Amino acid sequence: MLDSPEISDAEYDTMMRELKALEDEHPELLTPDSPTQRVGGKPREGFVKVPHSSAMLSLDNALNETELRDFDRRVRDLLGGEEFHYVAELKLDGLSLAAHYREGQFAQAITRGDGATGEDVTENARTIRSIPLKAGRASLEVRGEVLLNRRAFEKLNAERMAAGQPPSPNPRNAAAGSIRLLDPKIAASRRLDFYPYFLFPAPATQTETMEALTSLGFKVNPHWRVCTDVGALLEFCDEWERKRDSLPYEIDGVVAKVDRADQQQRLGWTAKAPRWAIAFKFPAQQKETTIVGVRFQVGRTGTLTPVADLEPVSVGGVVVSTSTLHNQDEIERLQVQINDRVLVERAGDVIPKIVRKVADGNNRRPIEMPTACPVCGGEVVRAEGEAATRCINTNCPARLKESILHWAARGVMDIDGLGDALVDQLVDTGLVKNVTDLYGLRLEALVDLERMGKKSAEKLLANIERSRRAPLPRLLNGLGISFVGERTAQILAETFGDLDKIAAASEEELQKAEEVGPKVAGSIRRFFEERHNRSLVEKLRAEDFSFTYAITRKTGALTNLTFVLTGALPTLSRDDAKVLIETAGGKVAGSVSKKTNYVVAGEEAGSKLDKARELGVAVIDEARLLELLG
Ligand code: IVH
Repeated sequence: MLDSPEISDAEYDTMMRELKALEDEHPELLTPDSPTQRVGGKPREGFVKVPHSSAMLSLDNALNETELRDFDRRVRDLLGGEEFHYVAELKLDGLSLAAHYREGQFAQAITRGDGATGEDVTENARTIRSIPLKAGRASLEVRGEVLLNRRAFEKLNAERMAAGQPPSPNPRNAAAGSIRLLDPKIAASRRLDFYPYFLFPAPATQTETMEALTSLGFKVNPHWRVCTDVGALLEFCDEWERKRDSLPYEIDGVVAKVDRADQQQRLGWTAKAPRWAIAFKFPAQQKETTIVGVRFQVGRTGTLTPVADLEPVSVGGVVVSTSTLHNQDEIERLQVQINDRVLVERAGDVIPKIVRKVADGNNRRPIEMPTACPVCGGEVVRAEGEAATRCINTNCPARLKESILHWAARGVMDIDGLGDALVDQLVDTGLVKNVTDLYGLRLEALVDLERMGKKSAEKLLANIERSRRAPLPRLLNGLGISFVGERTAQILAETFGDLDKIAAASEEELQKAEEVGPKVAGSIRRFFEERHNRSLVEKLRAEDFSFTYAITRKTGALTNLTFVLTGALPTLSRDDAKVLIETAGGKVAGSVSKKTNYVVAGEEAGSKLDKARELGVAVIDEARLLELLG
């Protein structure tokens, strides 16, 4: 049933809004497993590492029929002639996740990580609709695969491209990136899916596991089958290798598992993988074609990327007509030239890669990196030790367009309505020469542009205006420093708390931040040493962007509680109280509403106190606040 939803996404959204309004009105009706609790969580500072209850192992591979038969022989030998069955399942091309339920309530989700410890991604997992928030009444652990179906993947990539970001190479990468997003609201918009295949406490067989998971309300992948021998297993593999393109998501093989848990126990595990299961991997899908030309794209950091135009060819249900050649090193490694015959491969990747040259073409022409930028004609250089050739003109329109699109992207400044076509016009007409020019745009100038009505111009200006309030991590991400994406930006903002401190920090100081190594630190330093970038920072300061960032603790005694301060407290200044509350994970709001948990009242408390009484919000004094803080 979960496989074919009864209502559309739009209907779901409407019903959600109604439920949310109802719960706002009657907070006593709100339960932890209410669907409204899927979204909500605030952006996190990073992920906490948590140990797994037992190692999340990977699987040994069988790459062909012989290897699968070898596996079957080993199993038969080890079981000493005893009868047994296999369960054959699709090998879903996603990432594994462990979901924990306490007394039936969804409590925690952990990524696989290194198998022994993973990252706590509970808030993001909560946004996945196929992870039930309630599953029976017992405490359980469910493991399975998180994935993005082809439609959701295509939608995500279309959005990324419209925002000038590079597309994600495959659904698996996109799913992995999405589950590790720091903002659960963005994660929710990605429409991830979860297919479980493991339950603890473990039923007596894998068949029962799949059945139990189904009745607990999980979306179990329907394409699994009991196979009584290796012949049946091979048939299942054959069948799905043929039908894989008809599925709405990617699979990269078949997993065969010995059905009975007691037999699994007897077969046991090696250090890396169970002896009772194997992954039969489908071969990568490959086709031959010809390189008909090579273009060079200029990215946000000025990198020139050679892109091969190919004679269109269908590879695994997808027509392939281009392939990136990455950089000069890759061209040399492949020894390819224009007009050569090449083998292209899609290994789960929508963007194919050139595996190797098959034959030299007639009239073959060498692929040469341009000596001038194909967009601005400016100087290009290849730094020593770097694979990339870059256009060094910071005013290159290609770089500028890319950096504006990045600035406007979702998760960065979130400026809706600022897409490709508009950015082209803004740059080409000279209205925007750097991102801060966006903040000086006027309605009259905008309505003169093509395809721009008054309404949409007004909306755009409002969106641009709103983006001024973006917190420091987003601003940092928006600067487009190489190797500084959403996650690193968040970490830097938390560690230094101030853009000026980051800009002034030495490479050693920068490396004190978690996950920042020499490469990232070097890139940050170089960025802030560059004259145009420093002037950009000053322009942003003049536009009143927030350069500081208050570090909020992830969890503490006051997590999820909202306070309002009013009147003079006996010992704490208002700022001290605020810092204490925020450090313990709480929030301090400016006005009292139904969402306020406590009003902390001191002497001469005024209207806020009246409001609290009117709404029935708890009123406490400083002493009680200090007690709550522990
Ligand atoms: S069972 C100890 N079943 O494949 C055995 N894994 O290459 C645990 N995978 O890490 C894995 N579909 O992420 C199992 N039906 C399936 C699967 C599956 C995909 C992934 C899983 C695992 C990897 C091993």
